[in-house]
Amino acid sequence: MEQTRTRKLTEKERAELDRVTEVILQAKEKAYRETDSEPEPELTSAVDWPVQCTVGPGLEGAIAAETKIGYVNGTKGSLIYRGYDIFDLCAHSTFEETSYLLLHGRLPSTAELTQFTALLKRKMLIPRTHRLLMTFPVEEMLPMAALRLGTNLMRQKQTFRDQDTFLAEAKDHIATDDDSIPMETPPKGEKRSVFEFIRHIFSRPETAPSDLISSEEMESCYNLIGGVASVAAGIGRIRQGRMPLEPLPDLSLAGNYLYMLTGRRPTPLEERVMDVCLILHADHGMNASTFAAMVVASTLSDVYFAIGSGIAALSGPLHGGANVEVVQVLEEIGSPKNVTEWYKRAIKEHRKVPGFGHRVYKAYDPRARVLGPLSAMLAEADDNLKPLYETASKLEGEVVAALSEKKKIFPNVDFYSGIVYRSMGIDPHLYTTIFAVSRVAGWCARVMEYLEHNRIFRPRAIYTGTLNEQYVPIDQRSQPKGS
Ligand SMILES: CC(C)(COP(=O)(O)OP(=O)(O)OC[C@H]1O[C@@H](n2cnc3c(N)ncnc32)[C@H](O)[C@@H]1OP(=O)(O)O)[C@@H](O)C(=O)NCCC(=O)NCCS
Repeated sequence: MEQTRTRKLTEKERAELDRVTEVILQAKEKAYRETDSEPEPELTSAVDWPVQCTVGPGLEGAIAAETKIGYVNGTKGSLIYRGYDIFDLCAHSTFEETSYLLLHGRLPSTAELTQFTALLKRKMLIPRTHRLLMTFPVEEMLPMAALRLGTNLMRQKQTFRDQDTFLAEAKDHIATDDDSIPMETPPKGEKRSVFEFIRHIFSRPETAPSDLISSEEMESCYNLIGGVASVAAGIGRIRQGRMPLEPLPDLSLAGNYLYMLTGRRPTPLEERVMDVCLILHADHGMNASTFAAMVVASTLSDVYFAIGSGIAALSGPLHGGANVEVVQVLEEIGSPKNVTEWYKRAIKEHRKVPGFGHRVYKAYDPRARVLGPLSAMLAEADDNLKPLYETASKLEGEVVAALSEKKKIFPNVDFYSGIVYRSMGIDPHLYTTIFAVSRVAGWCARVMEYLEHNRIFRPRAIYTGTLNEQYVPIDQRSQPKGS
């Protein structure tokens, strides 16, 4: 799908984009060939509540809701959004279109997609949220903590501040005398000093077209899908001691995320590869962060709080972020020739290899099937990346040979995503925030779907403590020696 570019692609750029599509379609073909004999999806029809199921600790196996949004078939290794195979979406769709699909349940028409894409672009323009964010010590915070803060600040703006009076008085700039943030550039003759980063590229934001907005919650979802990308990029900028940037009108959300992070226009290849990464991470069943967002939304709290909870859950090392560890391990190994020895030692030390294994997939993760060949393609053209990719590829061979039959261990989404982000020069500390830039679409879709037939989540815990304890006043309790 073409983005709204202002210039024609060169032949080389066109060939690179075609190659990405080809790589994805080859991955699809390989996946279909290798998993043909695996069972077709189960549990894809409505259930009769209350449902019988076997539940393990951590709600493993529990069925908490019905959904039409996405399906993971762990034995076959397939991932479906709204009935569409992830391979087809990666090959032919965009993150904007995929977000529309997840939220609205069907692929948009040309007019709908144009309107939705333009709307998201406007939602990426969040100067006041950026400005509020910069009043916090973002450079000292974990990026995921700053991202969560950013969604709260967006909520602040959305719920009581200046939605309709956006830049009205100050026209296309924000006066610095609103607070004490230092300026990036000196004043240029205006009556008051201005921020350079507010540059009136867009006409004054309108409220969203009414045929797209069905509720205040849906508008919050649009704000969040555009806004989380801008906040995440802004965090990257602030960490480098730079000012956040505003989006460019001719870039996609993926392209703008990269531009607003690096200050450099991404190449069409970089924009497309990031777009594919965002499509791949947009939804994945009732994972911990999706469930966290749904639990918060089920109290009829608001969508901003719900997404903030999703971000908090994603920040944990058992959920988002194994890709950072993968890159660290690959660097620790250093070269393909050290892989065998490193892996032997890892086995001896009972060390889990990051980027392998999955609670749901007991087959090759379809997202890794796309990201593996994509990182191979990127490494082909980048001598700095080559050793990292070759080390990864050799490690994959050894781990799969040792564990795929016996334990159904294959590479997961995180094994190659770090290499892809590395090819774009992205700071590893920001990798989990990219996950959130994408997953916010799935969180929003699942929250909106659940709210249609909302029931507050309220599982039980089995009490295994004591009963009938007698309360003893503090001065009559036995005291530990020396206290
Ligand atoms: C993802 C993960 C938490 C799934 O956990 P799980 O379904 O609960 O599986 P378990 O941790 O119980 O592992 C089952 C068996 O496979 C082995 N195993 C799982 N992941 C492994 C890995 N990455 N490397 C080596 N062995 C692994 C375990 O040691 C265990 O072996 P055992 O039965 O002999 O004790 C786990 O595979 C893991 O920790 N992977 C590495 C971190 C990672 O990549 N996380 C990102 C997930 S998207």
